[in-house]
Amino acid sequence: MITFELNGKTVKADVSGDTPLLWVVRDHFKLKGTKFGCGMGLCGACSMMVDGASTRTCVLPVAAVANKKITTIEGVGNPEMLSTLQQAWVEASVPQCGYCQSGQLISATALLKSNPSPSSDEIDQAMSGNICRCGTYPRIKKAIQTAAFKQGFAQQASQQADQQSSPNGGVNIFEPASTTKEDMA
Ligand code: FES
Ligand code: FES
Repeated sequence: MITFELNGKTVKADVSGDTPLLWVVRDHFKLKGTKFGCGMGLCGACSMMVDGASTRTCVLPVAAVANKKITTIEGVGNPEMLSTLQQAWVEASVPQCGYCQSGQLISATALLKSNPSPSSDEIDQAMSGNICRCGTYPRIKKAIQTAAFKQGFAQQASQQADQQSSPNGGVNIFEPASTTKEDMA
């Protein structure tokens, strides 16, 4: 029995420890959003986040994720509540056939969590393991840059709101210690 966290819930899988995580998630837990591509750790279609890192699960034995946190595409957002990245994805009309997109979104989500403001080169590097046969790479990059900008803007706005709602409008006012008669002597 292997225990791990799947999209925020603790789950147990009564499977052989060498079963690839991909098949445990798809067949045992019936979450079919993550796709099978090459089966050799080369295309990224099967990417899930393992403790926050984008990981190829077609070649990852489930025993290796005992007590770890797994996030699949179903845990990133849903049609009623898209993540900022998913919204940017929709705005940029990124998908074509769609087959690689779950893996692309997982890798992009992991990137923005570890590096909220990635450079162009850092995006290329982080996404290089996710293959798209439809060639949606330019739109993927644009969506990542848009989401990074929006998240940065939202963070800045929330910091400003915090400052404005603090008693001194975010300005630290240092009160001088009161002067006593002894100090004056
Ligand atoms: S299916 Fe796992 S990397 Fe291609
Ligand atoms: S959208 Fe078709 S493979 Fe990427």
